[in-house]
Amino acid sequence: MKTIKQIRNLKGKNVLVRVDFNVPIKRGKVLDDTRLHASLPTIEYLMKKKAKVILVTHIGRPGGKVVASLKVDLVVKRLSELLKKKVTKLETENWRLSDKKKMNLLKKIDKMRPGQVALMENIRFSQDEKKDTGTLSQELANLVDYFVLDGFAVAHRPSASVVGVAQYVPSYAGLLLESEIKGLEKVLQKPKAPFVVVLGGAKMETKVPVMKKLVPLCDFMLIGGGVLNTYLKARGYGVGSSLIDMTFKKEALNYGKRKKVIKPVDVVVGSRDGKSYRLVALKKTPHKICKKGEEILDIGPHSINLYSQFIKEAETLVWNGAIGYFEQKPYDIGTLSVARLVAGRSKGQAYGVIGGGETLQSMDMVGMTEFVDLVSTGGGAMLEFLSGKRLPGIDVVCKK
Ligand code: 3PG
Repeated sequence: MKTIKQIRNLKGKNVLVRVDFNVPIKRGKVLDDTRLHASLPTIEYLMKKKAKVILVTHIGRPGGKVVASLKVDLVVKRLSELLKKKVTKLETENWRLSDKKKMNLLKKIDKMRPGQVALMENIRFSQDEKKDTGTLSQELANLVDYFVLDGFAVAHRPSASVVGVAQYVPSYAGLLLESEIKGLEKVLQKPKAPFVVVLGGAKMETKVPVMKKLVPLCDFMLIGGGVLNTYLKARGYGVGSSLIDMTFKKEALNYGKRKKVIKPVDVVVGSRDGKSYRLVALKKTPHKICKKGEEILDIGPHSINLYSQFIKEAETLVWNGAIGYFEQKPYDIGTLSVARLVAGRSKGQAYGVIGGGETLQSMDMVGMTEFVDLVSTGGGAMLEFLSGKRLPGIDVVCKK
């Protein structure tokens, strides 16, 4: 991989950094600035080297239109606070740049002082970003000397600002991208045994490829969420209105039946609002788990105990996806217990990796994020990487 540390002379050079500042914004506030923090090392490195740092990000999925609530202004404000330095906004509106606008943009960049930081408008306001159509990537490249990809979380998207620019200017990996890839490679290439994976969450289409890659590689996989429900349904258990995806019935059965894939011995079923719930022991032969209107919403206490025995022995740990419907009490117990166990075993005893929006959120709820070795900023990107796919963004910063 080519990283920013290999760029010899950055002084006064225009550097375009594709970050992933796709952060939740509500009522005039950035609700979670984890992704901003994660790119600070790259930004500060470039500032120290006196480059002109031009950041570009997407926020949400505006679909090539200007959406007021997805403008970058609040991110500019929060980033200025974090850097303790004023970050300016480079106005690009809907990214349809006339020659005059392009000239103005270039003039503004020329006027930036070495070490200064600016953020461009949400790149997904451009219709050409998503599929790298038109001349957007070339226009971006014309503004700068170097391109840096730092947003690991967007590295799986073949967009103009992720892969397109790299065709025209020398391109490098930022420090965040580098550390995420190194951490995840450690898991894929030489995981210390026992290697324990905890896999939950809802979207089967993103979990099945991870199972395909990691079931053969790991020693144990502990399952919950949609993966578990789909397996139980495929085996013939009565799962009521639980979240399932029978498109993946074959895969759920195929992986779920493996001995190393550990299933719970009891589950909590009930109503989504948490008003009525009960514990159901799972028998070896299929039976009715849920009554009418009930869903499986968490794993039970005996299963938490069972899962803890595997986590406590692990030398390598990967966790992605909530185990239950953790947004609603009392169904948060399984997920929050897993969060504590994973963090408790990480840093020192096991190499611990977590990723995915809900996973990070629940780790935050137990206040133990700092104890995990690698907290990946990538949801989809991490899953694709762990599935063994080549991420287009990573390809462009690798030596040919
Ligand atoms: C994410 O949050 O996973 C990344 O920012 C990518 O966003 P996307 O799924 O909208 O491309």
